[in-house]
Amino acid sequence: MIMKQSSQDKLNWTKYFLIALICGLVAIDGMNSAIADSDKLTEQRMEISESGPRLVIESDTVASRLGGYHGILAFLHNFAVPVLLADSEIASFFGNLTTTPADIEQCLAMMLDHDLGGSSRHGGAVLESGHRCRSSMPKIHQGRNIPDQVITKFIDIVAQQAELVGVSQADIKAIAKVLERSRGGIRNK
Ligand code: HEM
Repeated sequence: MIMKQSSQDKLNWTKYFLIALICGLVAIDGMNSAIADSDKLTEQRMEISESGPRLVIESDTVASRLGGYHGILAFLHNFAVPVLLADSEIASFFGNLTTTPADIEQCLAMMLDHDLGGSSRHGGAVLESGHRCRSSMPKIHQGRNIPDQVITKFIDIVAQQAELVGVSQADIKAIAKVLERSRGGIRNK
């Protein structure tokens, strides 16, 4: 009887152990994928402190390092846009606008802030002018026939200007990556 009881106990403990192990693995996997999915360049590193090793998670984002929406807008307005529009090939696509240059800058700044981990909306925000930012790249660029090499030039200029104002190489890569994502929706629409 006692033997039977103890083997039952063993079985129960094995069950509890397995359940705890599975829960632990699911929790670790969930944490990692939440970090990986956030696209916020979250950094994890181990630090050895006096009380032993500890996991440090840096949650600051590219957007926050660029100064959020306002920092990105100032960068676009003061540095990127003047150089983009000084290029006659790029400027030639900015005729017959359906909205103002100021609206375009603000909508693009919000989109970039959002895509780089900031709190702006990706689209749909209503600006002071009354313009509602659009989010569909094909719709925004419809009828403009923007070729691939012009998109490449646009992204390169933004990256060069970011470098000039001291943005880190890693953050420039992240900015270029989010701009790149729109290429298919912009090209030859
Ligand atoms: C590379 C990534 C690009 C992104 C993420 C992007 C994004 C945007 C956004 C957010 C707007 C404002 C939309 C709105 O009014 O709600 C916009 C407008 C516009 N973009 Fe782009 N753009 C990109 C590249 C380009 C390029 C390469 C050109 C041309 C050389 C271009 C030409 C325009 C024009 C002409 C408008 C104004 C459209 C209108 O007034 O209806 N964009 N873009």
